Amino acid sequence: MTYKDPMFKGQELAGKTILVTGGGTGLGKSMTKYYMELGANLIIASRKQEVIDATAEELRKETGGNILAVACDVRKPLEVENVIKKGIEAFGEINGLVNNAAGNFISPTERLSPKAFDVIVDIVLKGSYNCSLLLGQYWIKNKIEGTVLNIVTTYSWTGSGYVVPSAVAKAGVLTMTRSLAAEWAKYKIRTNAIAPGPFPTQGAFSRLFPDKLKEQLDPLKRIPAKRYGEHQELANLAAYLMSDFSAYINGEVVTIDSGEWIYNAGEFTGFDAIPQEMWDFVEKEVRGKNKK
Ligand code: HXC
Ligand code: NAP
Repeated sequence: MTYKDPMFKGQELAGKTILVTGGGTGLGKSMTKYYMELGANLIIASRKQEVIDATAEELRKETGGNILAVACDVRKPLEVENVIKKGIEAFGEINGLVNNAAGNFISPTERLSPKAFDVIVDIVLKGSYNCSLLLGQYWIKNKIEGTVLNIVTTYSWTGSGYVVPSAVAKAGVLTMTRSLAAEWAKYKIRTNAIAPGPFPTQGAFSRLFPDKLKEQLDPLKRIPAKRYGEHQELANLAAYLMSDFSAYINGEVVTIDSGEWIYNAGEFTGFDAIPQEMWDFVEKEVRGKNKK
């Protein structure tokens, strides 16, 4: 058994219908696949119908599960309403939402136009609140227990240069996670978040770690495990937080980054560079300063 293996092996999500925004690619696709393997019905929604159709076809064949692909720009409430309507028509009800759709690219902030700022904040923050609000209203009205899982990042709370619109928007999503967890617990709606460190996807890595920069900066150096995340380990966590096994977890954000953000925040973590054999000398010097 390794971290690359599926954690649940049975039908732990049978009877649930889950909407994954941005489910046609990257981490959204990996979560969608695992949810289907665990018996859930899936709805995937993103702007490119051809992309989500191809993913739906592929995953239907691979898992034998049920999946519906509906084109939707999460920035547009009417399109989100249409996804919910189509999902209910196909599967009877919807029980889970993964706010996974996102936009992002690196840029010095002063180079951004107002529209560049808008496009990221609108996809990430407005998209997440559109989906949460409209599904929440449906759950409350119909007395259905619901689970929301928001995909944020570790810079939701640290902030980060060069991705400022994304940081601002993800911080908003994290605050929404905790706020709705408190307000909607009484309706049996749970709201949690996952904060991943770097997981290789075409969408993220092409926009955040272009090859030239990757060579120079080597993002792996920042990661204690000296490896990127495996999609299955994120899917395992997403399955747990969507399942009834996590029924008592609400308003939580679970970081999955091998300790990357803490490693780089710690004042003295860079002392990793000191060779073991040098510590005798260093200790002697430090002890030598003790007053007798
Ligand atoms: C500066 C840029 C830019 C760039 C676009 N713009 N790219 N500005 N640098 N690299 C500006 C444009 O000039 C335009 O402003 C405005 O942004 C909108 O651009 P469009 O191309 O018209 O937008 P659109 O076609 O809607 O595409 C949206 C997008 C694109 C966000 C720009 O990248 C996209 O579709 N992304 C979806 C997938 C994605 O980003 N995945 C990565 C998520 S990774 P003007 O004023 O010129 O008109 C992630 C991980 C974080 O979030 C954590 C990692 C560890
Ligand atoms: P990705 O493959 O680019 O996923 C982003 C998805 O969002 C795409 O499927 C895209 O599909 C969809 N999308 C973008 N704009 C949309 C819109 N307006 N309406 C509907 N869908 C839209 O990148 P990823 O790496 O898998 O990212 C998935 C999530 O993980 C994001 O929330 C990201 O912030 C988060 N994350 C990723 C990493 C990482 O290292 N990969 C780290 C931390 C957090 P369309 O283009 O078809 O719309």
